[in-house]
Amino acid sequence: MVPRLTHATLDNPEVARYRARVCAGLSGDVLEIGFGSGLNLAHLPDPVRSVTAVEPSDLAWEMAQHAVAASRVPVTRGGLEAESLAQPDDRVDAVLVTFSLCTVRDPAAVLSEARRVLRPAGRLHFLEHGLSPDEGVRRWQHRLNSLQGRVAGGCHLTRSAPALVESAGFELTEVEHWYVPGPAVSRPWGYLSLGVAQPRPA
Ligand SMILES: C[S@@+](CC[C@H](N)C(=O)[O-])C[C@H]1O[C@@H](n2cnc3c(N)ncnc32)[C@H](O)[C@@H]1O
Repeated sequence: MVPRLTHATLDNPEVARYRARVCAGLSGDVLEIGFGSGLNLAHLPDPVRSVTAVEPSDLAWEMAQHAVAASRVPVTRGGLEAESLAQPDDRVDAVLVTFSLCTVRDPAAVLSEARRVLRPAGRLHFLEHGLSPDEGVRRWQHRLNSLQGRVAGGCHLTRSAPALVESAGFELTEVEHWYVPGPAVSRPWGYLSLGVAQPRPA
């Protein structure tokens, strides 16, 4: 049920424009965390050589099969929960994560694993909704957070992707924030962050 709901929510032309932006600049072997129904595949630029999908939901993976079959880039399912990745250190050129750091059980562990499997010159590309800087919106995000978790498969409204990425040992090289266009009531769900980050040298 939840994969169908998230697919329906996230498969629209507005979000597709954001997907094209977060995928710009990806190249080589990409690991995608929270692959979902494969909605980013159509936006991968030509220099991407392969995608390893990390996705725990069999239903989401099944729903992705149409996009996987249509993809120019070979896609393999390379794991379930991104808190513990099977890939060796320094293996991938890029990690892509969209609308999933809100949902994973332990975002710090996921980002630490992302940093471990990235090559030193690799990049993390992220597009996430999260904690707003506006006090009134934040108040609602805290109030609605546990209900959101129950109806949306563990999704949190109160996580800040850029802060989590920096705490996990990355340096942000690009970051932008905006509200998805819509009525003010949608703002607790609509504060987005799009960024690119590089591993900080140890
Ligand atoms: C809101 S959906 C986003 C799907 C897709 N990234 C997109 O942008 O359409 C969140 C996805 O994260 C997956 N997920 C949940 N926990 C996860 C974990 N621990 N590791 C990897 N993926 C996880 C869910 O199964 C779901 O497919």
